[in-house]
Parts: sequence; C-alpha cells; structure tokens
Amino acid sequence: MTENPLAEGLSLRRTPDPCALVIFGASGDLTHKKLMPALYSLAVRRLLSPRFAIVGVARTEETDDGFREDMKQAVQRHGRDEFRQDVWDGLAAAMRYVATDFSDEGGESKLHDLVDELDGEHDLGGNRVYYLAVPPPAFPTIVEALGKRKSDQGWTRLIVEKPFGHDLASAQHLTALLREHFAENEIFRIDHYLGKETVQNMLALRFANGIFEPIWNRQFIDHVQITVAESIGIEGRAGYYEQAGAIRDIFQNHLLQLLALTAMEPPIDFTAESVRNEKVKVLKSIHTPGPRSVVRGQYGRGFVEGEEVPAYREEQGVASDSMTETFVAAKLYVDNWRWADTPFYVRMGKRLARRETTIAIQFKRAPHPPFAETSADELRPNVLLVHVQPDEGVSLAIGAKVPGQGMTIRTVHMDFLYGGAFRTGMPEAYERLILDALLGDATLFTRADEIDEQWLLVDTIVAAWQRDRPAFPNYAAGTWGPPSSDDLLRRDGRSWRRH
Ligand code: BG6
Repeated sequence: MTENPLAEGLSLRRTPDPCALVIFGASGDLTHKKLMPALYSLAVRRLLSPRFAIVGVARTEETDDGFREDMKQAVQRHGRDEFRQDVWDGLAAAMRYVATDFSDEGGESKLHDLVDELDGEHDLGGNRVYYLAVPPPAFPTIVEALGKRKSDQGWTRLIVEKPFGHDLASAQHLTALLREHFAENEIFRIDHYLGKETVQNMLALRFANGIFEPIWNRQFIDHVQITVAESIGIEGRAGYYEQAGAIRDIFQNHLLQLLALTAMEPPIDFTAESVRNEKVKVLKSIHTPGPRSVVRGQYGRGFVEGEEVPAYREEQGVASDSMTETFVAAKLYVDNWRWADTPFYVRMGKRLARRETTIAIQFKRAPHPPFAETSADELRPNVLLVHVQPDEGVSLAIGAKVPGQGMTIRTVHMDFLYGGAFRTGMPEAYERLILDALLGDATLFTRADEIDEQWLLVDTIVAAWQRDRPAFPNYAAGTWGPPSSDDLLRRDGRSWRRH
C-alpha cells in the first residue's frame, strides 16, 4: 500500500524514475483535455518523480511561456482537481516547447538538444518517454528520427495512441516500423478503456472473489451483453470518423478488450505478459460472426437529452451519402471450453439515448421455481451488471419476496457504488496509464498480437459489408439503434437489457 495519503485511488508500489516526457501533438485536443490534466493530477498526489521534465512538440510556433500558459488553462478547464498554483509551478518549472513537424533535420536536433539540456539541469539519467499523440501519418517520420538517436544511457519508452492501424496489414506494418527501433517492452499501445477503474475492477471482481469464478462459465451463464453507448455525436472529428466508423473506433479496441477481460482465464499472476497471454487467447478464440450476426446502423436526426440533433450525414465534413456506420451490434462466440455456445451480444454507437457502458452477465434461470403464485415475468434471471460508466459500480439482480401475504417475487438489486463505498474520487484513465508507462508496467497496454487478432476479426466483418448497402440512416438519434439490433436477440428468444 502507498504511504502517500494523497495517492488515494492509485496505488503506488514505487516511484517512477526521473525522466523527460516528450509529447508529440502538444497543441492537440488530447493533450489539452486528457494528458496535461492527468499529469497535473499525478503531480497533486506527488506520484511523479521530483526530477521530471515535460517537452511539448507541435508544428505551431509558440514560446515556452505561451505553452505553459496554454497548458495551465487546459488544466484549469479540464482537470478533476482544484487548481493549486504551488503544484502547477512545480510541474511547469521543467516544461518546455519545441515547434517542429520533424520533417526537417533541424527540428529533430532542436528537440534532442533541448532534452539533453533538461537532462543536465534536472539529472534525468537519460530516461525518456515519448508520447505519440499525433495522427498516424506522422508516426513514421517521428519514430525513425527517435530510433536513430536512441541512446544507451537510461531507458526509452514509446506511448502510441490509437488508432493503431486501419486494418491488419497497416497495423502489422506499423508494428514492424516500431520494432525496427524499439523492443516490444518499450512500446506502450494505449487503449484508454484499460485505464478505467471499473474495467480493472472486472479483474478484481472475478479473481479476488471466490464466489464468482466457479459459476463464470457456460454451465451457469446464459449470455453476456456488453454495451458501449454514447449520447454524443462525432464532435467535429468527421475526417477521422468517416474512415473509421464505429467498428474501428470502438469495436476493434475498447469493446473487444472489455470482452477479453470478461472471458479470459485466470492469469497465473498480474504481470503484463501473463494477463496479455490470457487476453490474446480469448481474442484468438472469437468465432468469426456470419453476416446475420452483425448489424450496423447510422443515425438520422433526432432528439438527444431533449435537444434536436442533426443526422450523421448532416454533420460537418460528412459526405451526404456516407455509408459509415455509427452503430454496430453483433453476436459473438468465444470458442473454448468455458464459453462454447454462450453468446456475447455486443453493441456500441454514437447518438444513442444516453451514455452508458455496461457489462451484463445474465445467468440461467433457476431450474425449478416452486412458487405457484409468481408469474414468470416477475421471476427474472439473475444478472450481474458491471457499470463501467457512469454511476460506476456493480449490481446484482436477485429475486426477493415482496413483503406481505403470499409469495410474490420481484427483482431487486444489491448495489455496490464506487461513490458510496470509497471516499476517493475516481482517477481518470490517463492518470493510471501515464503513471504505469512511467513505471514501465505494460499490463494495461495492448500487445502487438492482441492488436493483430482484433484487426483480423474486424477485417473479416468489414469485408462482408462490402457486398451490401444498408438503407442508412436506420435509427433516429436518441434511440437505442436500429430495429435489426433488437431482432438480433429476439431471434434467440432474448432481448437487450431494459433501460
Ligand atoms: C475514443 C473514441 O477512443 O473513445 C471516441 O475515439 C469515443 O469516439 C471515446 O467518444 C469514448 O471514451 P469514453 O472514455 O468517453 O467512454
């Protein structure tokens, strides 16, 4: 356990080594909304090394002072902690900026000279973390430039943001490029869902409790439902989203990772290799779904949280005849001893009725309900519901007797809510992930073989889609997706969890 009283929510086994963190894409949204606020929160909890420098790199001309001011405002706007000038001053003291797009040799040298200088001033031991928060086309130039200058002094790590490729071929190509200069254990591929507390809690729930594991299989579980629903649209990211769609944006990474954590075998320990070995086995065992088992949708106009919103095709930068899907639902099978014939129904989409990420484990019905007066409707099967977000927690639906005469059974919920059980606030996913990368712990980062398996599945689904053109839009914004998504379960005599 940590001895730092402020380190609640993030257990600090050891302090990260001194190092320089170089952020490529420092003028971008991610840096403003996630990375800098996360670094600030780590600083508040004194989880960073006192010898820690941050270098922002972007194309825009900017002074060091201008960059610091910009980052300070980002922290004030997007941070989860109250702003404290003393903490900020500590973090900003070794914060610098370099303007370059790396296509010129000069830019590369400028950056290295600056980092060397900071190293001398703050005694950073040659340790470097490079964070690629730039669009993928910029990766090759940067990676090659970094690779050429890699020094033997200290350690070097590379954090790579999604999207990791566009398909299997491009992902393998990117891995090959990275591997020319970096070893696998120096590469940290981000899937920010793995940094979410509730996602890690799936591991705690399963493997720290004796009661769940014996029933966590096809004998007791009827099916699993995983929902990643967003009420927001594409937020001005048409350039990216038109190419990606829901299948590449969410299914390929966040959704499949949630599924892998739900279905994996217990790892022998919680080292990066053991956990990832088990996850990759699940990903390898996912049966390629047939065309009838995958549904896609695109939103039309509608109302979300009381506000009228445009159709996807009316969003700025989206083609008026776009065939990009903003919703995917699928029935997946994990072909192994634990899960054979147990469907995993998954759905994800933009502009759905509300923001909700849940994993619902639906157990089989009681074999023989002896209560004559109870209608079948009131005796619903047990469901273990993991609320990934919002209202983080876990809830178990059980049948309970309604007080009074007779034997009427109703479904009630035993709830564990993070907010009620722990007095600490929830750390942001990026706090955990940045800290782990600084510590060199890759458990919550995706390995190359996992990414390959994820793309293999997506590529086969996308290839099957080339053959037909669904009548888009096929769901109104603010609903739960197209009717065919409900049909997917109805055919099996099941339905999506009631909302
Ligand atoms: C990102 C996707 O990876 O995850 C976005 O690119 C999506 O489209 C986001 O909105 C969702 O993340 P969260 O943490 O808000 O569920």
